[in-house]
Amino acid sequence: MEEDLKTVAKGKILSIRDLPTLPRVLDEVSRLVENPNTTIEAIAKVISRDQVLSAKVLKMVNSPVYGFPGRISSIQHALVLLGINVIRGVIISTSVFDIMAKAMEGLWEHSVGCALATGLIARKAKLKEPEEFSVCGLLHDLGKVVAAVQLPELHKAVGETVRSQDLRWLEAEKAVLGFGHDRINAWLATHWHLPPTIKEAMALHHYPERAQFYPQHAAAVHLGDFIVRIFEHGSGGDDQAVPLSPLALKILNLKLTDLDSVLDGFAQDLAEISCVDFTPEELSPSSGKACN
Ligand SMILES: [Fe+2]
Ligand SMILES: [Fe+2]
Repeated sequence: MEEDLKTVAKGKILSIRDLPTLPRVLDEVSRLVENPNTTIEAIAKVISRDQVLSAKVLKMVNSPVYGFPGRISSIQHALVLLGINVIRGVIISTSVFDIMAKAMEGLWEHSVGCALATGLIARKAKLKEPEEFSVCGLLHDLGKVVAAVQLPELHKAVGETVRSQDLRWLEAEKAVLGFGHDRINAWLATHWHLPPTIKEAMALHHYPERAQFYPQHAAAVHLGDFIVRIFEHGSGGDDQAVPLSPLALKILNLKLTDLDSVLDGFAQDLAEISCVDFTPEELSPSSGKACN
């Protein structure tokens, strides 16, 4: 792709802020967070004003992805237990649920599955704040959605290239767009003022060995992505296996056999995370699905 066309593409990607699906609440919360005198109560109040968003956030944080199933009853409680960065990540991902479901079939399931697997990996590696790792998994392929919405023609061409040349989605993106969703992720994380841990995981989940500051976050998501693909849960846009980075396990101080219990845990929670979606019926308290 020509250099100037690449700049146009980047500009279009970055105007994601204009998308109606990202709630105003997110901007308000980001502004509040910058003020050191802001209280958890104030942030909770802003989020709770948006009832649909609050219901989505509570559904997500009470899913097995976060390890507190069914016990978080309010946004304030969620903020105290999980921290503001996790909740911001959850707000972003749940807000794009509709466009994600429309833009790429199976990507939502792939993302929630990756969040679950990444959290299990973080717990297995005894890392602090495993919830932050889960949210990295939740957001890891967001760049694909943003490309689909902002550059629909090119996104379509990426899908066609995947199919006609039997490539991985990332390789096809590079061939068609000149950059991958990993790069888009880095732009988005900067744009949304996400913390450097989440940014590095989003940007380097395909190459954790390149992470300079938070290799454990990038490596955990890398393995999470690998696991969700083994189970063929959802779709990342192609049906290829993730080439496993030889350093991913080493970075986390894990052995290959450590993955056995992670795979078992993932298999156990799989049915329940399949119910984590945000179609209007699913948000209603009377919804009949088993995971309410
Ligand atoms: Fe990816
Ligand atoms: Fe992925």
